[in-house]
Amino acid sequence: MKPRIADRVGQLPGYPLAKIPQRKRELLAQGVDVIDLGAGDDNIAPPEIAVRALTEALRDPAMSRYGFQLGLPAFRQAVARYHQRRFGQTFEPLTEVLPLLGSKEGIAHLALAACNAGDVAIVPEPGYQCYIGGAIGALAQVHLYPLTPRTDFRLELGELPADLLRRTRIVFLNYPNNPTAAIAPREYLERTVAICREFGILLAYDNPYVEITYDGYRAPSIFEVEGAREVALEFHSLSKSFTLTGWRLGWVVGSADLIAPLMMVKNYYDTGPFLAIQAAGAAVLNHAEELVQPVVARYLARRDVAVRALGKAGFTAPVPKGTLYHWIPLPKGVKSADFATAAMEEEGVIVLPGSAFGAAAEGFFRIALTAPEPRLEEAIGRLGKVFARS
Ligand SMILES: Cc1ncc(COP(=O)(O)O)c(C=O)c1O
Repeated sequence: MKPRIADRVGQLPGYPLAKIPQRKRELLAQGVDVIDLGAGDDNIAPPEIAVRALTEALRDPAMSRYGFQLGLPAFRQAVARYHQRRFGQTFEPLTEVLPLLGSKEGIAHLALAACNAGDVAIVPEPGYQCYIGGAIGALAQVHLYPLTPRTDFRLELGELPADLLRRTRIVFLNYPNNPTAAIAPREYLERTVAICREFGILLAYDNPYVEITYDGYRAPSIFEVEGAREVALEFHSLSKSFTLTGWRLGWVVGSADLIAPLMMVKNYYDTGPFLAIQAAGAAVLNHAEELVQPVVARYLARRDVAVRALGKAGFTAPVPKGTLYHWIPLPKGVKSADFATAAMEEEGVIVLPGSAFGAAAEGFFRIALTAPEPRLEEAIGRLGKVFARS
């Protein structure tokens, strides 16, 4: 008899990026000049300071031991100092900071700490896939909230019935947003925190793009909102701000009361990020402000090229104030999957169709600013040809 597989596996939606790498390899093997604007993963060298700190740490045998959830105290301290400098907030390094194997890991595990089977988890659609995956894994009842232009791509808890909110244990929010590039005004965050406090809902504030903002816009921490510590945990990542995606290091900050249950869950799933990577992470965070500047400058230059090229190619997309994404509407009737398939098969350009993020995201596609300006311009020009044919 074959082993049975849990129902929850069947409930997981298809992962948007799952099939692309294989098809990309095939196209490259056929000699196609592929330009990949799919995953938000830039082909840029890690900061030298990270490489040096990692190399040094590798020579210290103590760094090759289990990190456990405590991890490297120097990393926790560097995180706390970063939050103090950047947002003027104080977090106690040993109880209010927790290292993560990339922020995705912590976010995905959080629902296990927050939800009993059948409790409601409110998940934005489109949204980063680990929200729904974590909620399904925890046997939560997923309530999808469509992020559309109607609400400027904001998840408005106040629109939901009180009965639903009473059954809700967790909501996932992410601004600056992937994939829509929407941002969150302070009043929005205030009313959201107020509702979470009223109904005792854990607010998982996913903030990996906090440093990647443009035109003078400064993205906030949720903890700038009064009362947020009562209900929120905030997730951060070294992936995008410091071009360290594959190193797998992130962290969560918040009150000790809310961090402790996540740590308890994680005790049973992982043994903490590699200590040598945490040493590198500490070195990076100690120089965060200077390291992030060239990263933002590079994405800004690309954003500007993309905005111009998109206009020239016939698209009408808003100018993003943050993130490395453009969320581009398609004309009515054009299916995003058809558009993305034509872009890849006919023009060698990889984009993500809205439909890969769920039904509510149909009618859009996402590009990531993961190519240098001339390639980006070339790619968008090719997308324009697909657009003209569609
Ligand atoms: C919104 C959002 N949250 C979290 C992550 C995960 O980042 P990490 O590399 O720290 O796991 C990503 C990565 O693309 C993201 O877009």
